[in-house]
Amino acid sequence: MSLAGRELILGVTGSIAAYKAAYLLRELTGLGAAVTVCLSEHAREFVGPLTFRTLSGRPVLTNLFDPQSAEAVEHVALAERCHAVLVAPATANVLAKAAHGIADDPLTTLLLAARGAVLMAPAMDGGMWAHPAVQANVATLRARGVTVLEPEEGALASGLAGKGRLPEVERIVEALYRALSPARDLAGDRVLVTAGPTREPIDPVRYISNRSSGKMGYGLATAALRRGAQVTLISGPTALTPPPGCVFVPVQTAEEMREAVLQHLPSATLVVKAAAVADYRAKHPAGTKLKGKREVTLELVPNPDILAEVAARRTGAFIVGFAAETHDVAAHARAKLESKGIDLLVANDVSRQGIGFDAEDNEVLLLDRWGGTRALPRMPKAAVADAILSHVLALRAGAAARKAHT
Ligand code: CTP
Repeated sequence: MSLAGRELILGVTGSIAAYKAAYLLRELTGLGAAVTVCLSEHAREFVGPLTFRTLSGRPVLTNLFDPQSAEAVEHVALAERCHAVLVAPATANVLAKAAHGIADDPLTTLLLAARGAVLMAPAMDGGMWAHPAVQANVATLRARGVTVLEPEEGALASGLAGKGRLPEVERIVEALYRALSPARDLAGDRVLVTAGPTREPIDPVRYISNRSSGKMGYGLATAALRRGAQVTLISGPTALTPPPGCVFVPVQTAEEMREAVLQHLPSATLVVKAAAVADYRAKHPAGTKLKGKREVTLELVPNPDILAEVAARRTGAFIVGFAAETHDVAAHARAKLESKGIDLLVANDVSRQGIGFDAEDNEVLLLDRWGGTRALPRMPKAAVADAILSHVLALRAGAAARKAHT
């Protein structure tokens, strides 16, 4: 995903975490955003304007009454045309001022003039964050549509530990994507996504698995969250961080995945089975480590087909499966769609380099149970995820319209 074409204001207030705003700024500009930084007077005690000027490539707003500064003169126009104002770190003081509409410095004035999304990433002492006055201000801001992130738990600058750390850059950027997301077309949906490989033990240290990285499934979970859905992500072992805000259920084996899926299925409106479930497991996993240098025969038994079982339960959820194929992709995929009894099958050719398994990009065929086939061009997995979700919405709307006609 990119922030190209996005005009942002990054407000930095006086917390020791102000230095982290420089990293955040690098990330935002790296994603293509045009960022004007506004430093509060106290933030300047921690980090100087030159750092932000250099990283943003733009003058930094510090004084609204500087006649030499075009930005200062135009601050209202700037606030009105920007897509989002992001305050990171946000102190208890700026939260209070924003909650009460006080505009006594450049940043709080911009906050009143802003027409786009407003996000606050707080950083303060744990006791301050928990104070009823701060919590009341946070509640006021949230009720007004401002995104106030929860601070993170951990070591604080005071030497104590608690909830008050500035959220990680990735979490702040993810919240920004969600706030800027044009489509909230999955609001009200409960999406169940499976992702990653499964691991089937042979003995306590060895297992059968596959090359699935989980990127496609995590991309789908992230896209669904951005579009307003509630998401449960059931994942085999991967190196990825679950997207903030999902219900995350880590599993190891296909049988554990099956149990978790069936448990969460009744409330799901959309099921997306992107996981690469191991087809086989050892019939008798050894309880102790198998010793080397002798021949071992491994007896394998098939794992339950979770997707077919989900479809057979006919809960009313829209069901999407994935197919990893190496040849005759369309024909095998169409047969798989029919045999599993699902609504949509996303087929990819895993024999090709650079797409599908363990890759950044994917190029897929979408086959639906109403006979339609659509080929998507090669794209990053995040874009594929969005295209799949848009296709699901279109198919669901078509199915509802057909039902209404009969
Ligand atoms: N799947 C599943 N449970 C299994 C195997 C697969 O739920 N035991 C799901 C996968 O999550 C995917 C779809 O079924 O959505 C197709 O997976 P794939 O590995 O392509 O197909 P298989 O059903 O295993 O068939 P085959 O290996 O014969 O191609």
